[in-house]
Amino acid sequence: MTRRIDIVEVGPRDGLQNDPANLTVEQKLEFIARLEEAGVKRMESGSFVSPKAVPKMADSPAVFAGLDRSKPTRHIALALNEKGVRRAIDAKADEINFVLVASETFGRKNQGMSPQESADMLARCAPLVHEAGIPLSATISVAFGDPYDGEVDLGVVGNLAAQSQRAGVAELALGDTIGVADPWAVRRAIDRVRIEAPDVYLRMHFHDTRGQALANVAAAVDAGVDVIDASCGGIGGCPFAPAATGNVATEDVVYMLERGGFETGLDLSKLINTAKWLETVLKHPVSSALSKAGGFPVKERLIT
Ligand code: COA
Ligand code: ZN
Repeated sequence: MTRRIDIVEVGPRDGLQNDPANLTVEQKLEFIARLEEAGVKRMESGSFVSPKAVPKMADSPAVFAGLDRSKPTRHIALALNEKGVRRAIDAKADEINFVLVASETFGRKNQGMSPQESADMLARCAPLVHEAGIPLSATISVAFGDPYDGEVDLGVVGNLAAQSQRAGVAELALGDTIGVADPWAVRRAIDRVRIEAPDVYLRMHFHDTRGQALANVAAAVDAGVDVIDASCGGIGGCPFAPAATGNVATEDVVYMLERGGFETGLDLSKLINTAKWLETVLKHPVSSALSKAGGFPVKERLIT
């Protein structure tokens, strides 16, 4: 049987939060609709953080209010504190993804919290999400390195994973927020988290800042992980991580996995078209390889 890898599309949140372009709510909804048309079933559609911290996500309540709920998509809202969780519940998010932080200085700059404070905040917020009957997931940000403090201790990552499990987090992403992981570091982190939090489902979140993201996805899939975050066009980055560039591109991941014999349920041509459409609304090129080269085998050649 073909192994299925599920892709969580993060373009509308991680992708747009750091882009110089200011998309309207209508343009964001069109982006989301195009992704749904390409087969996306689960996506981060916005974040409920301080509008002062991330102005580009200030319109997330309006985006959630405008979603086409007749589609089967699970719309994820990002939240980092109690106020964010309450706002996400009010917006009828289908899932809430909480953000933990694995290192001190990034944690202070991104969310005003140390690693342990972020875990304490999760413990406070989780009951609210559970009471609302909404699935709770979490991401450990800077799990592979902090732009200010440097190397991150796997012990901290493991400890946060264990606390996530205790808080009832169903799925945990290890986030390479600044794109410093390599395939072997990915394996070590996965092995460690499986020991500390054996009941939590794993997801991986990679940025391609240093060109390692696809190799890291392959390493994670080899290690048995079958949920991967990606953003159409490879747009994105964190406003609090200097020099952080885009997420691994959805179409590049889909190409690699489908060539490798995995099933993603996504339509490569529609993803590429969406990446090209993004260039017109963002008014700058996107970074994905597939949006430039196209798929293979080339469709025209197949026809003739
Ligand atoms: N949504 C909207 N506003 C919020 C909020 C939320 N989730 N949480 C706090 N605020 C507002 C408060 O109401 C307060 O507003 P005021 O100044 O008008 O009174 C202000 O933000 C400060 O609140 P405080 O609780 O002291 O937060 P803080 O200044 O310590 O900041 C965060 C903490 C988490 C709110 C902030 O750092 C943040 O939103 N970070 C987001 C980072 C992010 O999204 N990074 C990328 C994704 S990981
Ligand atoms: Zn990210």
